[in-house]
Amino acid sequence: MAGVRQAVFDKQVVQQSFDLASDRYNQFTSLQRTIGDRLLERIDVCSQGNVLDIGSGTGYLTKKLTELNHADDVYALDISTGMLQQTKLNTRQSSLNGFICADAENLPLAKESIRAVYSNLAYQWCSNLGKAIGDVHDILQTDGVFAFSTFGPKTLQELKSVWATVDGAVHVNYFEDMSDIQGYLERSGFKQITVRSEDIVVHYDTPKQLMLGLKGMGAHNINQGRNKGLTGVGAFKAMLKKYEGLRVESGIPATYEAVYVYAKK
Ligand SMILES: C[S@@+](CC[C@H](N)C(=O)[O-])C[C@H]1O[C@@H](n2cnc3c(N)ncnc32)[C@H](O)[C@@H]1O
Repeated sequence: MAGVRQAVFDKQVVQQSFDLASDRYNQFTSLQRTIGDRLLERIDVCSQGNVLDIGSGTGYLTKKLTELNHADDVYALDISTGMLQQTKLNTRQSSLNGFICADAENLPLAKESIRAVYSNLAYQWCSNLGKAIGDVHDILQTDGVFAFSTFGPKTLQELKSVWATVDGAVHVNYFEDMSDIQGYLERSGFKQITVRSEDIVVHYDTPKQLMLGLKGMGAHNINQGRNKGLTGVGAFKAMLKKYEGLRVESGIPATYEAVYVYAKK
């Protein structure tokens, strides 16, 4: 059952982790931007009503949404106040209307108040994706649009397999698969559902650079099954050495499975 395999995140840890990453986040985000751009390639532009960006981060997608849509109001929502500050800074020139510090799994918005909800790479941080998707269904108006991207289970498969040879702890966040996501959407009552994925392989100069990149974007492992603070220097070095063995001509490979989801209420 999907629910049994779901990740459990400590929301305070998620919040602190993104607060810490917020001021230097843009140095590490070319992957998120690529995925955000691809998500937007297939959206229906919203010509009226309110638009909401969930997990706005530093505001890359939010800014594009204000340019693309001719909506009445565009709102940015994030669990991290540090990230919301960045959204504010980076969307200064745009017609953004509101900033909401809240959890995507507990949306503080009125029923049927929003015309379109978008989200780029925030839902992989939700412990209960079914609940988060149900909340979106509640706040959307009839025929409202929902489009989001998230990571699928092939994400960081190389890192996962290398760690598995070093110790038995959880070192990579758990990512839900497309059929689970499709099920949540159907059970919430969404229609015209499309879920597709693509594997994007990023090459890094060294395994350490990959680890720094994950930390920099606030994406280091925070699953509760993780080896809290116990990963010794020796184990970490052993992992880096094993990962080095996967090197190809373009560098150290890391797969990211980008999942793109489109649905209507
Ligand atoms: C990888 S960043 C993506 C940011 C942005 N959408 C972009 O495209 O660059 C993920 C964002 O989701 C936010 N986030 C994580 N869990 C959240 C939750 N439960 N509710 C709301 N925002 C959350 C983080 O604070 C962070 O800003």
